[in-house]
Amino acid sequence: MKAASSFIAAAGLFATASLALEPITIKGSKFFHADGTQYFMKGIAYQRSPFDPLLDKEQCQLDARLMKELGANAIRVYHVDPDGNHDDCMKIYEDIGVYAFIDLDTFHTYIEQDGPPHWNDTQLTEYIKVLDNLAGYANLGGVFVGNEIITTSNGSFAAPYIKSAVRDIKTYMDQKNFSRKIPVGYSAADIAELRPNLQNYLACGDDSSVNVDFFGLNAYEWCGNETSYHISGYDMLNKNATDYPVPIFFSETGCNVPTPRDFKDQFAIFGPEMQDVWSGAIIYEWIQEDNNYGLVDYGPADPKTAIGGDTWARGGTPTRLPDFTVLRSVWASVSPSGVAKDKYTKTNGPISCPASTSGIWNVDPTSPLPSLGQTALAAEASGESVDRASKTGDAPSETSTNPNSAGKNKAMVQLSGGLVAIIIALAALL
Ligand SMILES: *[C@@H]1O[C@H](CO)[C@@H](O)[C@H](O)[C@H]1NC(C)=O
Ligand SMILES: *[C@@H]1O[C@H](CO)[C@@H](O)[C@H](O)[C@H]1NC(C)=O
Ligand SMILES: *[C@@H]1O[C@H](CO)[C@@H](O)[C@H](O)[C@H]1NC(C)=O
Ligand SMILES: *[C@@H]1O[C@H](CO)[C@@H](O)[C@H](O)[C@H]1NC(C)=O
Ligand SMILES: *[C@@H]1O[C@H](CO)[C@@H](O)[C@H](O)[C@H]1NC(C)=O
Repeated sequence: MKAASSFIAAAGLFATASLALEPITIKGSKFFHADGTQYFMKGIAYQRSPFDPLLDKEQCQLDARLMKELGANAIRVYHVDPDGNHDDCMKIYEDIGVYAFIDLDTFHTYIEQDGPPHWNDTQLTEYIKVLDNLAGYANLGGVFVGNEIITTSNGSFAAPYIKSAVRDIKTYMDQKNFSRKIPVGYSAADIAELRPNLQNYLACGDDSSVNVDFFGLNAYEWCGNETSYHISGYDMLNKNATDYPVPIFFSETGCNVPTPRDFKDQFAIFGPEMQDVWSGAIIYEWIQEDNNYGLVDYGPADPKTAIGGDTWARGGTPTRLPDFTVLRSVWASVSPSGVAKDKYTKTNGPISCPASTSGIWNVDPTSPLPSLGQTALAAEASGESVDRASKTGDAPSETSTNPNSAGKNKAMVQLSGGLVAIIIALAALL
């Protein structure tokens, strides 16, 4: 509700971006600051208000003060209002050295795994609105074309639609002569059966015009103090990312069993084991909600603004929760040095596209990407290899899938489900 009213107030203003903070750039598999030092992401998933947390200046000031104390240099925002004015909040974050990584989809436009998957002109137009709204900000770190589009181990047939979205967003930036090409990436659910195929597919071959510029993995494998670099499986994640040609990072992490969290995985990510391969991590999440991943809370909800039966306030003066204090001290004690941009010459070459393997990776690497407006055929969804060049859309709708069947990914799927419930409730209130 709050977000909606400040959007109306701000909508008439014209966007002007300050250039005090230089954009980060990508070389090979690493991010760099303008001064040539490597950028390691210490990020926070920030979705205080479901539709857009970057509209309310006072709230951004309150939150940014604690983000700075925490040592964050990135926020991840899943949904923004394409018509909102983000000048104030982007400037507030710029002033404390925070880059924003923002998902281009809205609740109505994201690419679906089932249904069947499609990528069409309506979606592209809506993605472009978000991109145009934000591209002028120097501290826009990058954009995601999707978050956890693929949620089940048999969902690989949706992967080409992710690449089609990347292709069309990059083509748009080229056609419009964007002075800065905004890095375009994807944020994947951690589905063991699809590793490392999905990761590799999105960045394979030598045609960068269809490949992601960075890859994010949402992983909740490292839980508590009884685990370690080897027990958690991070060693294998690291091994499988060693030759990755573009930056890779955790786009969500922070298993919350047990609590308070000790965030010990950060020592591996920013330490000697992983810092040469990974570019950092985004901790899930800033606000406290029923799912209990919060770093701060805003006190009890005002019944007038509470949404979806959730008792947590979504704005106000943030109070540090125990996890906040732990993360602050963990981040303060890790400072990866990385490599200087001009000394970094041995970048990774192209990787090959994963071969189609029935029942595991149902994507023919030689098949052309879906064109704009193309819908997956029922045959593809059931695992057959399909020559997409000769057929188009008109598939009967698929049998429904159970999102909770994603195994390890269960926690996140539930979170997304919770968010959907919130949206429905909010829509009812409005
Ligand atoms: C694109 O797909 C969305 C559903 O995701 C649908 O609402 C919209 O009408 C489609 N647009 C076109 C041009 O087919
Ligand atoms: C982009 O630049 C090209 C070549 O300079 C020019 O022909 C074209 O009109 C420009 N497009 C836009 C949208 O400005
Ligand atoms: C993990 O933490 C628990 C509770 O704080 C403690 O009892 C246990 O000894 C710790 N284990 C290790 C391996 O540090
Ligand atoms: C690493 O890659 C291999 C195949 O090359 C795969 O079997 C394995 O599951 C992957 N492990 C992780 C943790 O991604
Ligand atoms: C994919 O697997 C889910 C269970 O994880 C199942 O419900 C669904 O029908 C499967 N989809 C296809 C297209 O086989």
